Amino acid sequence: MVVLLDFVSLLVLLNSACSMVLGEMESPIVNLTLDPRKRILSWNSRRTVTQQTCTIATPLDPDTSQEPQVGNNDTYFCSFPNAVLHRGATLTVNATSEGQEFSEELAFNNSGKEGSGAQNLSCVIYNIRLMNCSWTRGPAAPADVRYQLYTWTSLHGNVSECSHYILDSAGTRVGCHFDELGEGHTTDDYFFLVNGTSSNTDIPFLDFPSVNGPRLEKYNPPANLTVKDNVSHYVIRWDAPAMRYSLSNSVLCYALDIQKMGSFSKREPGSPGSGD
Ligand SMILES: *[C@@H]1O[C@H](CO)[C@@H](O)[C@H](O)[C@H]1NC(C)=O
Ligand SMILES: *[C@@H]1O[C@H](CO)[C@@H](O)[C@H](O)[C@H]1NC(C)=O
Ligand SMILES: *[C@@H]1O[C@H](CO)[C@@H](O)[C@H](O)[C@H]1NC(C)=O
Ligand SMILES: *[C@@H]1O[C@H](CO)[C@@H](O)[C@H](O)[C@H]1NC(C)=O
Ligand SMILES: *[C@@H]1O[C@H](CO)[C@@H](O)[C@H](O)[C@H]1NC(C)=O
Ligand SMILES: *[C@@H]1O[C@H](CO)[C@@H](O)[C@H](O)[C@H]1NC(C)=O
Ligand SMILES: *[C@@H]1O[C@H](CO)[C@@H](O)[C@H](O)[C@H]1NC(C)=O
Ligand SMILES: *[C@@H]1O[C@H](CO)[C@@H](O)[C@H](O)[C@H]1NC(C)=O
Ligand SMILES: *[C@@H]1O[C@H](CO)[C@@H](O)[C@H](O)[C@H]1NC(C)=O
Ligand SMILES: *[C@@H]1O[C@H](CO)[C@@H](O)[C@H](O)[C@H]1NC(C)=O
Repeated sequence: MVVLLDFVSLLVLLNSACSMVLGEMESPIVNLTLDPRKRILSWNSRRTVTQQTCTIATPLDPDTSQEPQVGNNDTYFCSFPNAVLHRGATLTVNATSEGQEFSEELAFNNSGKEGSGAQNLSCVIYNIRLMNCSWTRGPAAPADVRYQLYTWTSLHGNVSECSHYILDSAGTRVGCHFDELGEGHTTDDYFFLVNGTSSNTDIPFLDFPSVNGPRLEKYNPPANLTVKDNVSHYVIRWDAPAMRYSLSNSVLCYALDIQKMGSFSKREPGSPGSGD
């Protein structure tokens, strides 16, 4: 009898210990959310936390960790501007509060029918203020898919949707023409996102790491080519193409292709600056 009583009291003790632990160890991290366009993870903390770390894991890139920035009202956030999210991501926040460690995880999925999203996006900037983008329809895209392209150059800047879509023969949007890019700065980083709608299914989005503006620019051929001769020499001149992003002369090289009637062509590398 004595033995039995001891056993019962031990059970009671264990029970109260468990519920005490559960009550106290509630995670301080709540409202964990991801803004997939801005690639910002944010959360609230409901008590004092120390030593927080956030981590993003995506299928093709190495994991990235950072210390969060502190916002208003016990809001914390981490920014992963170059994360690519269209294959999904796992976001983790680790925090220490009152000597205990906590870990909260958010599984981010790019929802929609597999293979229905846009693929192979590429964009070029040309004639200083114009930009073309093109992509291909996903192989499993429903017939009524309507893709939408968005672009922005800084996290807090405006997002613009394409205003002039280019359609393929079936009427599907497969490209975009932008005809008035703003002022260009060599530090511009362009972000692109293509998502879409259909009456049958959700369409997954396609995103990319940012691309520096100068890497998108495609130049026109040199302009105003003239050839003059003065008995002993031919003098060939041209003007450098107009450029949105000015580059140092050593980046742009010309090749001069001289063809004589009835002979093979001869290629002369032009020296930098020879266009002036
Ligand atoms: C979590 O989000 C809800 C809804 O936005 C808000 O009412 C609540 O205060 C948040 N929790 C904390 C601890 O900030
Ligand atoms: C912080 O909380 C106060 C009071 O609840 C509210 O007025 C304010 O808008 C909040 N600020 C932010 C950035 O959420
Ligand atoms: C966060 O916590 C989890 C689980 O305790 C652990 O596996 C992971 O390594 C921690 N991550 C970091 C960056 O500390
Ligand atoms: C995301 O996908 C994983 C694995 O497919 C699944 O376990 C999880 O429930 C999904 N999350 C959401 C929010 O749909
Ligand atoms: C288009 O993208 C798909 C999937 O992202 C890839 O498998 C394929 O090779 C790409 N096609 C071209 C022409 O780049
Ligand atoms: C851009 O698209 C427009 C309209 O479709 C087309 O006329 C032009 O040739 C394209 N230019 C480049 C450089 O791709
Ligand atoms: C965003 O758009 C508004 C209205 O079109 C404009 O006034 C503002 O300057 C733009 N902001 C940036 C950062 O481009
Ligand atoms: C596509 O992305 C834009 C920009 O983030 C968003 O405003 C829009 O709601 C998205 N559309 C769909 C159908 O998800
Ligand atoms: C022709 O032009 C070249 C290059 O400017 C110069 O070196 C040369 O002396 C000129 N020849 C004559 C005959 O003017
Ligand atoms: C070509 O020459 C014309 C007339 O001199 C000039 O207006 C134009 O800017 C030149 N083009 C380039 C690309 O320099």
